[in-house]
Amino acid sequence: MTDWQELEKKYFMRTFKRMPLTLVRGQGARVWDDKGREYLDFTAGWAVNSLGHCHPAVVNAVTEQAKTLIQASNQFYTIPQIQLAQLLVENSCFDRAFFGNSGVEATEGAVKLARKYGKLHLGGAYEVITAFNSFHGRTLAMTAATGQRKFQEPYQPVPDGFVNVDYDSLSAVEKATTSRVCAVMLEPVQGEGGVNVPRDGYLKEVRAWCDERGILLILDEVQTGIGRIGTLFGYQQFGIEPDIITLGKGIGGGVPLGAFLAREKASVFAPGEHGSTFGGNPLACAAGYATVKFILDNNIPEKVRLTGAYLVAELEKLRAKYSFIVDVRGRGLLVAVQFDRDLSDKVVMSCLSSGLLLNPVKPNAIRFMPPLTITRGEVDEAIGILDAALAGASKEREGQR
Ligand SMILES: Cc1ncc(COP(=O)(O)O)c(C=O)c1O
Repeated sequence: MTDWQELEKKYFMRTFKRMPLTLVRGQGARVWDDKGREYLDFTAGWAVNSLGHCHPAVVNAVTEQAKTLIQASNQFYTIPQIQLAQLLVENSCFDRAFFGNSGVEATEGAVKLARKYGKLHLGGAYEVITAFNSFHGRTLAMTAATGQRKFQEPYQPVPDGFVNVDYDSLSAVEKATTSRVCAVMLEPVQGEGGVNVPRDGYLKEVRAWCDERGILLILDEVQTGIGRIGTLFGYQQFGIEPDIITLGKGIGGGVPLGAFLAREKASVFAPGEHGSTFGGNPLACAAGYATVKFILDNNIPEKVRLTGAYLVAELEKLRAKYSFIVDVRGRGLLVAVQFDRDLSDKVVMSCLSSGLLLNPVKPNAIRFMPPLTITRGEVDEAIGILDAALAGASKEREGQR
């Protein structure tokens, strides 16, 4: 049998800290490895497989579109991208859409749009305020936007034009707002930063501040958007309307797709000022349309709220049982459990050996981001496996005392 992991070590860049698992197949919330072993997947391709693996709605849309037209370029009109743009605009506060292939293309594009706005309306203001612990992607500019030194350090100097401030603090945003600032870009809930939910009122206060100063508010909803936190878009839970929103991850149901949407006043690109060869291609947009339509038609966001609340309640029971769990937090099906020390790798590896895939989002926190279609029964199964892993960690801890 081919040892794929050895071949990867030989041929692939040393970029990823992978788990010792080679996945070959997926269906719903389950995946199978190359040895035929089954796993319950609470990572969902990093919050991407919103309808689970190989959902028929996505598979059918991709299959049909692959037989019809895969790529044509933006030199021409193509129907799936127009249909998807209409669907997103008609179900949001935005007026226009642009499609790329990933989350980072969405955030990068949104920042370009804000800079253009600054040039037109704010005397050339170009800086964007972002938060510490945020994550906005891996291009050079977005590592600068991302308020985590570890992503910037290897590539110094990173492009200027970004000011990182404390998350969840209006005064930090206020202090950083100079005449050079054209926008504030925030995640409504920080995903990669460890699932950090801001206090009620934070986003409303920032919205009011942006309005007062005439600067734009960009919400990076690459992770929180498309149902993940229990509404089609995360902003809908916070009583605000941003000027620009970025989307990625779950929007294509597993197929690479990113987008940014903007209100008319912020839709300031002129022809030729932004573009993409593959962005908005018919194949990805057909997948995106099928995914978003399914989510809307089947009221998936409400299911996410209910199943997410159930997951949190079950995790709270584990917190009551294990004193080393110090926090359970999240919204919808973007949830994290925090430990009082760096237990994540141990717990995640133990769950893996019992057939559950989890994400160690921080050395001391694990993240749950299952398909939005996960059932209570599957949550129960995951909780059972996690409980056993935590019992093991607890015993080990007792042994060390
Ligand atoms: C909030 C947020 N923005 C942007 C990105 C970058 O997306 P991608 O990895 O698709 O480029 C991510 C990825 O985790 C994200 O969580």
